[in-house]
Amino acid sequence: MSLHCQLILVLFIAVASATNPGVKVKLTEKGLEYGRQLGMASIQQKLKTIKVPDISGKERVPPIGKVEYSLSHMQIVKLGLPKSAVDLVPGTGIKLSISNAYISLHGNWRVKYLRIIKDSGSFDLNVNGLTITSSLAIKSDETGRPTVSSVSCVATVGSVSIKFHGGASWLYNLFKNFIDKALRNALQKQICPLVADAVNELNPHLKTLNVLAKVDQYAEIEYSMVSSPTVSKSSIDLNLKGEFYNIGKHQEAPFSPTAFSLPPQNDDMLYMGMSAYSVNSAAFVYNKAGALSLYITDDMIPQSSPIRLNTRTFGTFIPEISKRFPGLMMKLLVQTVKTPVITFQPNNATTQASCTVTAYAIQPNSTLSPLFILNLETSVSAQVFISGMRVAGAVSLNKMDLTLRTSYVGEFKVRSLDNILQMVLKVVVIPKLNVQLAKGYPLPAIGKMKLVKTQLKVLKDYMLIGTDVQFTG
Ligand SMILES: *[C@@H]1O[C@H](CO)[C@@H](O)[C@H](O)[C@H]1NC(C)=O
Ligand SMILES: *[C@@H]1O[C@H](CO)[C@@H](O)[C@H](O)[C@H]1NC(C)=O
Repeated sequence: MSLHCQLILVLFIAVASATNPGVKVKLTEKGLEYGRQLGMASIQQKLKTIKVPDISGKERVPPIGKVEYSLSHMQIVKLGLPKSAVDLVPGTGIKLSISNAYISLHGNWRVKYLRIIKDSGSFDLNVNGLTITSSLAIKSDETGRPTVSSVSCVATVGSVSIKFHGGASWLYNLFKNFIDKALRNALQKQICPLVADAVNELNPHLKTLNVLAKVDQYAEIEYSMVSSPTVSKSSIDLNLKGEFYNIGKHQEAPFSPTAFSLPPQNDDMLYMGMSAYSVNSAAFVYNKAGALSLYITDDMIPQSSPIRLNTRTFGTFIPEISKRFPGLMMKLLVQTVKTPVITFQPNNATTQASCTVTAYAIQPNSTLSPLFILNLETSVSAQVFISGMRVAGAVSLNKMDLTLRTSYVGEFKVRSLDNILQMVLKVVVIPKLNVQLAKGYPLPAIGKMKLVKTQLKVLKDYMLIGTDVQFTG
């Protein structure tokens, strides 16, 4: 292998791994079928706008001679698309097939012959066995949103039948050919562009994909596609970035997504896989923004608790505190020292966080005198759930481990503070955290999308959301 080829290979591998998605979305055939129902209504509306131009001319009709004719005001009175199907074409896109479609039109005819004879009336026209086959391609636009386009289309007209009201019967034969030809012409010229219009009209909806979704004052999550959508025989798969960023400051997380694949399920319309990477990038953002720190004061501890945040309570475990700082209230600062790590195992979402707890005595002039700093290793388990269009969570304490980092009040047994710290975590820190987690973060969404019959499962390295969707308006 030449150096050149090796370089290309290395680059290719680098690019391929850099674009691992944090979020995967799979649209199943069931989802596509729902899309077909919505799409057909729009195609039907479009086709109703077909205009059949007026037809007029002169023709020699033996034995009458020259006949001037015109057909005008042809209007669609009924249009039916009783049968349609969408099929996935692996590697390519979607095939839309409409068959047995019919159109009924009403119009006026008028003739003039033998110089002075004029006649007129109306007619009804039925077009049956109309077939439309269109191939749609699905791609990623420059903003990482999906776009669809009609790349090929064929429309064929089955039979045309016409019924005249008024007039002599020879007129029928005169008009039949003109109408048949003009109609086929008009339909074949207009149907495919109208179908392409209807398909293009999906794009403004697809453009509503929240490629950058605001979470709160600190974070936003990016849902742009990192590669073109792929079409297999049973689904359309989208690979989304799924990375949290500090609002305005897009610093990449110092870790990258690991590859994962969604299970071959297809009972629901839509599946979304949210990787541990996505959630960990959130932890990175919040930690970096300094959002993972909390001052705890005595008023945050329930009145009923005998344990208070003051030097008297702490003095019973560390006598030096009550000796040097008698009768003072205290304050604790809990903060993470590095980005917490979230791991997903089947039915198990766990977060490990390394924190410090700094204890202060509050002097009468409000100065904080540091008493000691503890290392706090915690493990919390998370319940994850869907709330509206958001993923939310709640955590509970698994275990904690305290060690001494620095003491300003001499040596003491850290173990003796276990109960106090555990109480502080359980009644203050975790409930506060859960208030934030309950707000959740937004899922990728298009337009006024609603999730129904949604289920969430935690699997290895990702959460799987299986759901049906509904578009309202
Ligand atoms: C959940 O996973 C964590 C770490 O991945 C592990 O320490 C813990 O024991 C697991 N819990 C259960 C209930 O399996
Ligand atoms: C506040 O009070 C403490 C203890 O009495 C003292 O050491 C400190 O200098 C005072 N600070 C200010 C800003 O007055």
